[in-house]
Amino acid sequence: MAGMSEADGAAPGATARPGPTAAPRVDRLWPDPAQGIELDAAFADLAPAPRDGRPWVATNMVTSVDGRAQLAGTAEGLGSRVDRRLMQLYRAAFDAVGSGSGTLMAEDFYSRLSDDLAARRVTTGRAAQPLAVVVAGARPLPTERRWFGYAEQRRVVAVGSTSPHAADRPLPGVETWVAPTEDPEPAWLLERLAAEGVGSLLLEGGPTLNGAFLAAGLLDELMWTIGPRLLANDALPMIVQAEIAPVEARLVSAHRHGDELYLRYRLANG
Ligand SMILES: NC(=O)c1ccc[n+]([C@@H]2O[C@H](COP(=O)([O-])OP(=O)(O)OC[C@H]3O[C@@H](n4cnc5c(N)ncnc54)[C@H](OP(=O)(O)O)[C@@H]3O)[C@@H](O)[C@H]2O)c1
Repeated sequence: MAGMSEADGAAPGATARPGPTAAPRVDRLWPDPAQGIELDAAFADLAPAPRDGRPWVATNMVTSVDGRAQLAGTAEGLGSRVDRRLMQLYRAAFDAVGSGSGTLMAEDFYSRLSDDLAARRVTTGRAAQPLAVVVAGARPLPTERRWFGYAEQRRVVAVGSTSPHAADRPLPGVETWVAPTEDPEPAWLLERLAAEGVGSLLLEGGPTLNGAFLAAGLLDELMWTIGPRLLANDALPMIVQAEIAPVEARLVSAHRHGDELYLRYRLANG
């Protein structure tokens, strides 16, 4: 998930930094190298690969050069405004967008698409907004977050069986799906989503939820933004440790804006 501050220090020869209203441009490094493409055009053909039996699952993360996914406890400041637009473009391509409850506790985020991208979805016969999902375990959720305020977007909270929201503390304005286990298992969640007609799920972290999907063999794609700074601290990595055999990753595309890199990898799960 993108951070919240401007971070494009333009090095000599780097893609020009856009003015306040200019559409951001990127260089495509691979495949078919090309310079100065409008970001929206560069990612216009994003389409999650259809799968049999379950939704396609990707995760979108921004990290430092050394792979840290937190700066002072949140993702804020790790990515630029170009990355934030790219995050919206990724969202626009998916049926559902999901995050773990740890992220909702750390950040006042929401999964709503910008008006231009919502309108673009409608012209292709899709719902204006992707289904928004928060995946929670046993801890109570911070219901004051903006995520709970967007009544025009269908939102689901998937909670564990012992969650206080499973029984006596219903969540206002959202659907609550109660898992049969203490933490909702990724396979259970995907089955529920598939039953709702969801064909693709974009996770936006955090690292713990990413790890659960990876450990379950249910992560197909990684969208990874590398912000140009090195932290050398003990913040969470992009994906927490999982008991898995190494997963092969195939590079789908690589772009850059200034010193920021945008990588997409297809995982061997996919
Ligand atoms: N750099 C980025 O792109 C990015 C993106 C997102 C988040 N972040 C940062 O990452 C941090 C939050 O990440 P996080 O890893 O702590 O939290 P998280 O992955 O967002 O959420 C973890 C929580 O999800 C619940 N959960 C539901 N199903 C689960 C399952 N099957 N397995 C494990 N947990 C499950 C658990 O809640 P219970 O504890 O209630 O059981 C767990 O504690 C924040 O600092 C946030 O700012 C960075």
